[in-house]
Amino acid sequence: MDKLLIRGPGELSGTVKISGAKNAALPILAGTLLATEPIVVRNIPHLKDVTTIISLLQMMGVQVTIDDQLNVEVDASNVTSREAPYELVRTMRASILVLGPLVARFGEADVSLPGGCAIGARPVNLHIAGLQAMGADVSVENGFIKARARRLKGTHIVFDTVTVTGTENLLMAAVLADGETVLENSAREPEVTDLANFLIELGAKIDGAGSSTIVVQGVEKLGGGDYTVLPDRIEAGTYLVAAAMTGGRIRVVDAAPDTLEAVLIKLREAGATITTGEGWIELDMKGRRPTAVDIRTAPYPAFPTDMQAQFCALNAIADGVSTITETIFENRFQHVLELQRMGADIQLEGNTAIIKGVDRLMAAPVMATDLRASAGLVLAGLAATGETLVDRIYHVDRGYERIEEKLRQVGATIQRVTS
Ligand code: EPZ
Repeated sequence: MDKLLIRGPGELSGTVKISGAKNAALPILAGTLLATEPIVVRNIPHLKDVTTIISLLQMMGVQVTIDDQLNVEVDASNVTSREAPYELVRTMRASILVLGPLVARFGEADVSLPGGCAIGARPVNLHIAGLQAMGADVSVENGFIKARARRLKGTHIVFDTVTVTGTENLLMAAVLADGETVLENSAREPEVTDLANFLIELGAKIDGAGSSTIVVQGVEKLGGGDYTVLPDRIEAGTYLVAAAMTGGRIRVVDAAPDTLEAVLIKLREAGATITTGEGWIELDMKGRRPTAVDIRTAPYPAFPTDMQAQFCALNAIADGVSTITETIFENRFQHVLELQRMGADIQLEGNTAIIKGVDRLMAAPVMATDLRASAGLVLAGLAATGETLVDRIYHVDRGYERIEEKLRQVGATIQRVTS
């Protein structure tokens, strides 16, 4: 099992190229199931989760090839299976994203019920309820979601809770449904908008993506197209926090500054000087220690839950006392236990972490538990004194392309060790 060995502290400086957004690439690749003609998807990040969904599509008979620029060519004109098996879905919950496209195009889908994960129960009741509202018969039997529909019918859906993949699944279901679908209380994440723009490129009729009310006019079929995935705002935010924690100066390029405004505001509050331009963000900490900042996660455009662990690490060494409240997931503080082992002064009270910044964290062997928690531990290792060994970094590889290479490019002392 691979580990990351990090020697700190060390000021980071230089330029990092941001990859395509994992959480846009996954629904977009699932959405290729809706089309009957070849599609090219560009700027796909080279990540374990992407490999998993490509394997899933290939198991269904979809032709997927990757060219030498890592562009993905997909031809779903001949889908032979409508099943997403447990052994794949359990490795990646986002496989649930094939449910909507399969029911919309073929009228049937058997998708393994994704279990919970380290950060929470992760129910999919809203995905199922939405398909039922569109006329599908959906049952859960033997751990599978079994959905059948002659043709989905457009309807008015109001989400009880803002759900990113729930919005994406039902958006994809709606594009081939009969008539108009209104999705209210929809997720406004940039990745939802990117999926909508991709579907429009294929001929879908969608208005309001990026707002909380999306209106879809169903069409008979979707054609082919050529689409470039937007930059990963969470990857960009993670590298900016790395520089803020080490007093350094970093420029992230091939980024989308307007998709992480809430994070940039908090980094400025922490004392960073931030400038942005077309496709780039520069953070300069000028050797200063960050100031502690209060965080409350919430759906976009508010502060993203996927940046919560990274800011726990920043606040752990910041000047002052701060609170971080997690409102999206019920168990997303597992990184706190590991940060405490590195000397962080953090108290958990319900869904709030109370953090008293310490001058310096001490290196320690730590264990990654989920994707963003592991990012938080890597950041802590960069700022801590000594050698931090982060175990179970398969979690990191799910969401960060070549993390040790990108960090080494900006001066980090980090290497992957295989035990
Ligand atoms: C997406 O997960 C992201 N994953 C997550 O990123 C991200 O943390 C999350 O949105 C929130 O922004 C992908 O896009 C692949 P939700 P998703 O449905 O869609 C409840 C990462 O690190 N809910 O928006 O699964 C749910 O329990 C990952 O890249 C229901 O109750 O999250 C949660 O409390 C981690 N019923 C809240 O909604 C449902 O049917 C938000 O979850 C669906 C969700």
